[in-house]
Amino acid sequence: MYYGQRKIENPIRWAMVGGGIGSQIGYIHRSAALRDFNFQLVAGAFDINPERGKAFGKELHIAEDRLYPDYKTMFAEEAKRADGIQAVSIATPNGTHYEITKAALEAGLHVVCEKPLCFTTKEAEELEALAQKQNKIVGITYGYAGHQAIEEARQLVAEGKLGKIRIVQLQFAHGFHNVAVEKIQLPPNGA
Ligand SMILES: NC(=O)c1ccc[n+]([C@@H]2O[C@H](COP(=O)([O-])OP(=O)(O)OC[C@H]3O[C@@H](n4cnc5c(N)ncnc54)[C@H](O)[C@@H]3O)[C@@H](O)[C@H]2O)c1
Repeated sequence: MYYGQRKIENPIRWAMVGGGIGSQIGYIHRSAALRDFNFQLVAGAFDINPERGKAFGKELHIAEDRLYPDYKTMFAEEAKRADGIQAVSIATPNGTHYEITKAALEAGLHVVCEKPLCFTTKEAEELEALAQKQNKIVGITYGYAGHQAIEEARQLVAEGKLGKIRIVQLQFAHGFHNVAVEKIQLPPNGA
């Protein structure tokens, strides 16, 4: 059980790629990581738009010289500092995770990456091998893995209460990313 106490003496020097203003998941990373003082957000490349990212970083009280236009610059510049970052969260769109995780591992950083980590098994195996070589952790935020309904389902399966599982059907209704059909202007013939 966590009660918000600091568990380590020196907070992990941590940065974010993505998770800028208006993003969906960025604040979740910050609120979770900063809640018990074990992480300190010291740098960021928060946005695909560098100026917006820097402005946002200032609002988060990060030193201006550690607000970077992109992740490549951030990894390179932070590696030169004695007090450089040790870990990074990646909260960018799906298609960027693989390349940013790879670059972070190559820069000697621990990684917390949003799901999905990548798109193919080959890419995942490559990242796993790289993480082992660099002796770094890659954590992927499968938030629902800890959900009570999933725990319950896992237990039902483990106890054999559902018998031999032959099919798993999953559905995640995600309406808010869609356009409301009633707001779409259809052509007069309805086609
Ligand atoms: N674990 C979960 O339950 C959960 C929930 C929601 C989203 N996600 C994942 O989080 C990721 C982000 O989703 P979101 O909904 O927050 O997206 P979003 O579009 O709301 O935000 C993306 C952010 O990344 C920035 N960005 C984009 N490309 C960048 C780049 N190359 N460098 C730096 N910043 C960049 C954007 O400017 C923006 O600030 C996705 O991969 C999504 O699958 C996970």
